[in-house]
Order: sequence, then structure tokens, then C-alpha cells
Amino acid sequence: MNYVTTASFSDAADRFAALQYAEWAHLYPGASLEQYRQGLLNNCWDGSDLTSLNLAWFTLDDGGAPLGVAMLVGEGELEPDDAGHLEGPWFAGLVVDPRFRRQGIGAALLDYVTEQARSLGFQRLRLVTEHNTGYYERRGWTVEQGVTLNSVPNTVMFITLGP
Ligand SMILES: CC(C)(COP(=O)(O)OP(=O)(O)OC[C@H]1O[C@@H](n2cnc3c(N)ncnc32)[C@H](O)[C@@H]1OP(=O)(O)O)[C@@H](O)C(=O)NCCC(=O)NCCS
Repeated sequence: MNYVTTASFSDAADRFAALQYAEWAHLYPGASLEQYRQGLLNNCWDGSDLTSLNLAWFTLDDGGAPLGVAMLVGEGELEPDDAGHLEGPWFAGLVVDPRFRRQGIGAALLDYVTEQARSLGFQRLRLVTEHNTGYYERRGWTVEQGVTLNSVPNTVMFITLGP
């Protein structure tokens, strides 16, 4: 599979931002569709400050059409009470086009972004999930603790990348 940074595909960024918004608006009621769109259009990481980390990739089919998206972000996944003791970086924003699910695309994106995090020198990656704990456990992730997002129960998980 090929991977590209999302900022180079503005039409697809619109489409996948809408899918992300539909999935997570109930958990992050303060975040607008435009913020999801900007998250895909503005890929950045200055190498020092975790708060500046916002990277995102599409995986492409053989014809170059985006099939799914996943992100590596520094913060913003948790509410303030939890964010202080559960630090990033975070695997986030994983969405596969509904027409192409159950073909391994999500797992491939998970592997790709995990490797990106490892190659950037991070020693641990976290994620927060409402419904997919088992999916990530089957791929080597460990449950860390429960949290709430907009009063909805979610689970923080982690994977160790470094020595
Ligand atoms: C969760 C999500 C990203 C998974 O994407 P996906 O591309 O369907 O994921 P995969 O194909 O890697 O795996 C899905 C299942 O299909 C299975 N699968 C993979 N390839 C398959 C194939 N060729 N034939 C049959 N099943 C297959 C996987 O084993 C997996 O099963 P499991 O859930 O029992 O482990 C997708 O359903 C999605 O976008 N959901 C909405 C957003 C969301 O929930 N994101 C995650 C937030 S934490």
C-alpha cells in the first residue's frame, strides 16, 4: 500500500474529515467539522514541542484514491482532568472508507503510523477508543485505563515502541 500525507489531497480531506466528524462529534462537542478538516490539511511537527504534533496519512489504492486515514497527534484526545497524567503522542483519527472495510486497511494504517511514531523516536504511543478495544488488543495494544469524553465511557490504550 502507498501512504501520503493528507495535506496533498484537499478533496479527500473534506470527505474523510466529514467521516471523522460523524464518528466523534458526540465525544468532542466543541470541535467543528472545519477543525477536523484543518487537522487533515495542516500537517506539522517541529521536532520539539509535542503540542505542535499533528501528522496524518492516507493510504491509497493502486489508482491513487484514498481509502483510509490515520493520524499522529500530540494532544487534544482527552479532557483536561485526564490529559495531565496521560501524555501523548496519540494514534488518532483512524477511519476507513465504509466501502473498503474488513480488508486489512485499518490494520495497515495502524502499523504504518506506529512505525512513523517509532522512527520519530517516540517510545510509547497511546490511543483512546469508545468501541474498539478488542480490535487494538488483537494487534498488540494494552488497556491502560478508563476515561470519559463528554460523559461517555472510553478506554485509553498504549503500545510500547522503544527499548
Ligand atoms: C475500525 C475501522 C478503522 C477498521 O477498519 P478496517 O479497514 O475495516 O479494519 P481491518 O480490515 O484491519 O480489520 C477489521 C476486521 O476485519 C478483519 N479482516 C481484515 N482483512 C479481512 C479480509 N480480507 N477478510 C475478512 N476479514 C478481514 C480483521 O481481522 C478485523 O477483524 P477483528 O475486528 O475481529 O479484529 C473501521 O471499521 C472504521 O473506520 N470505523 C469507524 C471509525 C472508527 O471506529 N475508528 C476507530 C476509532 S478507535
